Amino acid sequence: MLRKLFFATILFSMISLTTIILGMTVIYNRGIVVFEQQEFEQKSNAVNLFVKNIFTQINILAEAHASWTLANEAVNTNDDVWITENLSDYLIQGDFDIDLIFIAKEDESVVRNMGFGTFDVTTTSIYQKVLTQDTEENSLIWIEDTLYFLSAMPLSNDDSSDKNGIFLMGRPLGEQTFNYLRSVIVPVIEEHFIVSPTNDSSTITDPLITFEVPSQDDSLYILAHIENPSAQYLKEKMIGHATVIISTMFTLNVIGFYIAILISAKQRGKLMKAIDSIQLSNNAFMKIPHYKIQELDLIGNKVNQMLQRIEQDYDAIRFKNIEIVELLSKANEINDIYTKEHSDSVSKICEKIGSKLNIELLDQLILSAKLHDVGKVFIPLTVLNKKEKLTYEEFESIKKHPEYGYNILKEVSSFKQINEGVLYHHERFDGLGYPQGLKGFDIPLFARIISVADVYDALISKRPYRDAFSKDKAIEIMKQESGKHFDPEILDVFLSIYALESSDSDI
Ligand SMILES: [Fe+2]
Repeated sequence: MLRKLFFATILFSMISLTTIILGMTVIYNRGIVVFEQQEFEQKSNAVNLFVKNIFTQINILAEAHASWTLANEAVNTNDDVWITENLSDYLIQGDFDIDLIFIAKEDESVVRNMGFGTFDVTTTSIYQKVLTQDTEENSLIWIEDTLYFLSAMPLSNDDSSDKNGIFLMGRPLGEQTFNYLRSVIVPVIEEHFIVSPTNDSSTITDPLITFEVPSQDDSLYILAHIENPSAQYLKEKMIGHATVIISTMFTLNVIGFYIAILISAKQRGKLMKAIDSIQLSNNAFMKIPHYKIQELDLIGNKVNQMLQRIEQDYDAIRFKNIEIVELLSKANEINDIYTKEHSDSVSKICEKIGSKLNIELLDQLILSAKLHDVGKVFIPLTVLNKKEKLTYEEFESIKKHPEYGYNILKEVSSFKQINEGVLYHHERFDGLGYPQGLKGFDIPLFARIISVADVYDALISKRPYRDAFSKDKAIEIMKQESGKHFDPEILDVFLSIYALESSDSDI
């Protein structure tokens, strides 16, 4: 039982724990994915907007200087002074955050190349595209350690006609701009965030969030190492809840297991006590009470069934022994018809008196009455059936039959009341009877009842030495013996039965 409870508790705990962990994991992971997707979309939109704004700014600046008739003429005429004052140095030294300037004629002869260092811009696709297609192009470009927003467009007159050269300018992603980008991507929790531009995709590892930005020539990335604050918050909350739930469940399981142990131990204690106290009481075994725990109840029921079987067998054996005595008495009845008929009559009368008195163990009373003269088996038939007056010795020998009967029965019967009914059925209420001269209520109940029935049946029976009395005469004689020979109360019961049934001649 305890082992079952223990394993049930462990199993229940494990299932509960697994369910909670799985549930939390699914919710947590799903939550993280959702939050990260939302975060990523928001940040991506912010970065794209930021890049677009910078390109818009630089585009306007580039267009203002590339679509300029005076500038177009100055380039074509190699007017260095004008170019320096109005384009190259003017833009780089002015408050435009411009670090790159490249100006070339249609024949690709370079007029200005500032800020590119050894980087050959003419090999980039943005350069070739603008030159061959006369279109405006924007791109990010990586030069040494700096990321540039590059805008390239054809040189032309004010009205965008007469395109005959190329103008490129670039703005670096400087510290100020980069800080602004950082604030756009993660405006709140700085400590969870590292962001850096790179063209090395091998540095992109989880949990980096990557923002791809447009570039003509390089694969450029802005990497944001973000520990998603929303996901982090969710994680902490869920771990907190899971801890509370698991702790509560574990505590409840422990308490439940402890209570189960207590109940089991208490019930088992009761059962052991009941088994220990099993004994024969009032001719019946004490029954084991019902228990709520199935195993204990099963044991109790099995023991009760066993007790019932033993009880039945025990009674059967005891009655079997008495039947042996009856057989012995029958051997005598073959030669003494009177004793047989007398025994039957006395037992019937006793049954009626006993029923009227509502006595317990009526079956035993009937048996005791049936056997009350069994001791006569030891009295010679010549004496029992003698027609003449008995001698003193003969009478004394007959008076011993109650003790003979008792001695036989006590060897084979443990029914105390049956045996005493036989031994004392010749005792008198006034103490003048035999064999012990018991008086009043010292005489056992069975013996007082048998005495009444015995005398009545003897009076109305024909004996070798006299005729039978009439029933009324017998009743008259017996009434005179109330309180003397007989217990008055039992005699009254007998007389009431007689009064009711005399018309049927049953008694
Ligand atoms: Fe007798």
